[in-house]
Amino acid sequence: MVKLNHVLRAEQFLDTNCQEAIFQEALRLKKISSTENGALSLRKELEGKNITLFFGEPSSRTRGSFETAGKKLGANTVLIEGAFYGKIENPLTIALIAAELLTDVLVMRHPKAGLVEEVAQILDEFAPNISVINAGDNAREHPTQMLLDVLTIREVKQKTLKQGKLTVGLVGDLKDSRVFHSDAIGLSPWGVRFVLISPGGENLPDYVLEILERNKNPLKKTNDIREFASEIDVWIFTRFQRERKGEGDLSEQRKAYIDAFSLTPELRKLIKRRAIVLHPLPRLEEMPYSFDSDPRALYFSRQIKNGIYVRMAILEMLCS
Ligand code: NCD
Repeated sequence: MVKLNHVLRAEQFLDTNCQEAIFQEALRLKKISSTENGALSLRKELEGKNITLFFGEPSSRTRGSFETAGKKLGANTVLIEGAFYGKIENPLTIALIAAELLTDVLVMRHPKAGLVEEVAQILDEFAPNISVINAGDNAREHPTQMLLDVLTIREVKQKTLKQGKLTVGLVGDLKDSRVFHSDAIGLSPWGVRFVLISPGGENLPDYVLEILERNKNPLKKTNDIREFASEIDVWIFTRFQRERKGEGDLSEQRKAYIDAFSLTPELRKLIKRRAIVLHPLPRLEEMPYSFDSDPRALYFSRQIKNGIYVRMAILEMLCS
């Protein structure tokens, strides 16, 4: 098993062997969980371990996924959320609380950029046995969402992914979606070709583009969602990240986003029959409910479940 102290950025997974080891373990756990005896036996794996879920920003899927993952492995989980907003933003305070709660793994989401990493650095000084997982750092990164997205792609498109022949379209808020930032980094070493589809002028942050450049990923950029539809094997959509864009009325901008970057009936006819469509959720109007039953839609049928198993694999890795 790979050995990591913390999971803070997608860049920690630039080695595809490291990703592959996590995927193998996640798939093993998925298989074991499918039988009653198997599921029972897993409950001993992290017996006595304490996972603290520290959520300073709303979360339903990621929080629920980590909690389920921890419980399936027999760990205790404690949730701290919302209430600390504005009261204990200080990273030292958060680190001290984690230590007092006898935490083994601290899963953190926070709106303040870089705070999760600061907490990890402080813990390295005085409680190095506590691992930190970044479950959403401002608009920057969301590395475990990347792992579950790549696992989902690998499950369905293994051959093309491993041959470096996959074309991935990232649709929408390239600037402020932490999921896109981490996904682009995590997919980069597999040699994928990217199609970046976003409002004119908007792009991935420079540090992400530099990684893509270093790995020589072919890159196309457009603001017309239809332009490269016939080439894209994997579509990843996201909502307009309203909370990252400051004060003021942005309803026009939001409407323009929905008009340009949604899975419309017209697009549905253009995307390949064997393409797959991912979405980290929550969704707004960009992903219509009518698409949920399309066999290409994997956001309910695979992503949520894979999130649990990938997080189980990560929790095991950090506790071993
Ligand atoms: C994403 C997030 O929080 O960044 N959701 C998630 O973790 N499943 C995407 C989003 O909020 O749009």
